Amino acid sequence: MTFANFDPNGNTQLTEHQQRSLASAKAYVQRWTLNPSGWLGLYGTYGVGKTHLAVAAAIERNDRGDDVFFCTIPDLLDHLRASPDRDNWLRQFDLLERLKAIDILIMDEMKSRSGGPSAEDKLFQIINYRYEERLPTIITSAYMVEEIAVIRPEVASRLQDRLVVAELLIDAPDYRQGGTRH
Ligand SMILES: Nc1ncnc2c1ncn2[C@@H]1O[C@H](COP(=O)(O)OP(=O)(O)O)[C@@H](O)[C@H]1O
Ligand SMILES: [Mg+2]
Repeated sequence: MTFANFDPNGNTQLTEHQQRSLASAKAYVQRWTLNPSGWLGLYGTYGVGKTHLAVAAAIERNDRGDDVFFCTIPDLLDHLRASPDRDNWLRQFDLLERLKAIDILIMDEMKSRSGGPSAEDKLFQIINYRYEERLPTIITSAYMVEEIAVIRPEVASRLQDRLVVAELLIDAPDYRQGGTRH
């Protein structure tokens, strides 16, 4: 998943609005990647290319020498889940400190709470630290920010800060359903 193989015309007939939406999302993420500052919120339903663009940004920043961490939020919460094991606690502490300060953090698929209170608290610590420090971060979600506000109001409030977060809503057909098999 790179910028080079992200087709702004999709793989099926697009409306004019969809064409503009895909092309401008690609251009915006590409521009952000050249000189990351602040956050990107990538929204849109399933299969519109949110993960693709997030991975493309991760690859490009990694190639340019940044320390980059890409994860899906449900997987990250699994790693942050409370555990009585001391070694595991230390590993979690290291992960938490690393993700707070890493050059570029990309968190794919913000959805329902699934980590339990302790993992959710740690996720919030990461998000809040990066918000306070304005550290380059991409968050993707198939939910709209108003829906995230019901699930994680403290996160949604930060995502709605227009001084920090550029919000991109991708309107496109599901790419997974548009292709014809050869
Ligand atoms: N505009 C596009 N050009 C090329 N491939 C695309 C495009 N949009 C989506 N895809 C591909 O379609 C699949 C689904 O896209 P993905 O980024 O995972 O969607 P989302 O994260 O929005 O659900 C992936 O394999 C992705 O590489
Ligand atoms: Mg995705």
